[in-house]
Amino acid sequence: TVGGSVAEPKVAATADPLLLSAIRGDKVERPPVWLMRQAGRYMKSYQQICEKYPSFRERSENVDLVVEISLQPWKVFKPDGVILFSDILTPLPGMNIPFDIVKGKGPVIYNPLRTAADVNEVVEFVPEEWVPYVGEALGILQTEVNNEAAVLGFVGAPFTLASYVVEGGSSKHFTKIKSLAFSQPQVLHSLLQKFTTSMAKYIQYQADHGAQAVQIFDSWATELSPVDFEEFSLPYLKQIVDTVRQTHPNLPLILYASGSGGLLERLPLTGVDVVSLDWTVDMAEGRKRLGSDIAVQGNVDPGVLFGSKEFISGRIHDTIRKAGDRKHILNLGHGIVVGTPEENVAHFFEVARGFRY
Ligand code: CP3
Repeated sequence: TVGGSVAEPKVAATADPLLLSAIRGDKVERPPVWLMRQAGRYMKSYQQICEKYPSFRERSENVDLVVEISLQPWKVFKPDGVILFSDILTPLPGMNIPFDIVKGKGPVIYNPLRTAADVNEVVEFVPEEWVPYVGEALGILQTEVNNEAAVLGFVGAPFTLASYVVEGGSSKHFTKIKSLAFSQPQVLHSLLQKFTTSMAKYIQYQADHGAQAVQIFDSWATELSPVDFEEFSLPYLKQIVDTVRQTHPNLPLILYASGSGGLLERLPLTGVDVVSLDWTVDMAEGRKRLGSDIAVQGNVDPGVLFGSKEFISGRIHDTIRKAGDRKHILNLGHGIVVGTPEENVAHFFEVARGFRY
């Protein structure tokens, strides 16, 4: 070109939320920003709701409370993504798997699934029947947020859901699910297939009711060695993506797996649009390993939010610079931690929103 200058694409003139433009690869003036678990216990306003409604299941299964809690961070911090307040375990009762979240203990599955007979009892999830409050809440959120941010839905990935229901709750060494995987793999495969079919339907349901992008959390997939990830997680993630693409070809899908550094090259094989990196991967190296077709999300250490304001600003700029000026959603490398000072969260969003490429 004349003078050696390359014409820069124009900033897209679109009413789309910034987050969707960035995923598409449009030229945007700054990366969109939101935080995993941005609604929750680090916020005083959330703790006040918890005092009045001590049951997590009530808070996450009542339309008015779901909407109110989802909007708490939106009102204060104006993130570019507003994630539905819910849990990856929320669909389980609809599959005949009762659960609760117990304070100080975390998720509890009362009757862990360990045998072929147990897995036989699991039924396919019908979202409109079991979680109508999710569809209703997403619709209200879309109206309230009005394209100033993207409304985000989410689901748990088959392996991560299976790890909870086989272990009976959170786990350190994942011995029960590995015992099943490595002695009766066909039983685990049959459970994973049920979660796959049900979660694909659940994503479609969320998209039909107002979710503009959906994140799939495979939080514990990296407990698997790569060869086992290829057997017990990857094919199911791919099947979910393929199924959703048939009905919703333009719905952006984001995949998060914590500790995924050793699996990075395999994650794009799922077909998702965005890979969310945790902070143990250098953003520039992660970007290189993933290739330029895919968008990246992340990856500031949640612990950075306990640092000084200057330090927080430095890490934001460092992460954005390493991610490059396209296809990056600024986020943490995992969920925001309880005890994070709200003023540091406010600072994080101010600096991020004030940034220009
Ligand atoms: O991001 C958001 O703001 C949306 C809310 C959200 C929650 N859970 C609310 C919640 C999201 C996206 C989740 C996903 C989730 N749930 C994951 C995947 C994300 C990740 O962290 O890897 C997982 C593994 C779960 C299962 C789960 N639910 C755990 C491990 C816990 C914490 C238990 C504890 O006591 O610390 C929960 C409970 C839960 N889900 C809380 C919140 C805000 C905390 C309990 C409460 O607020 O009463």
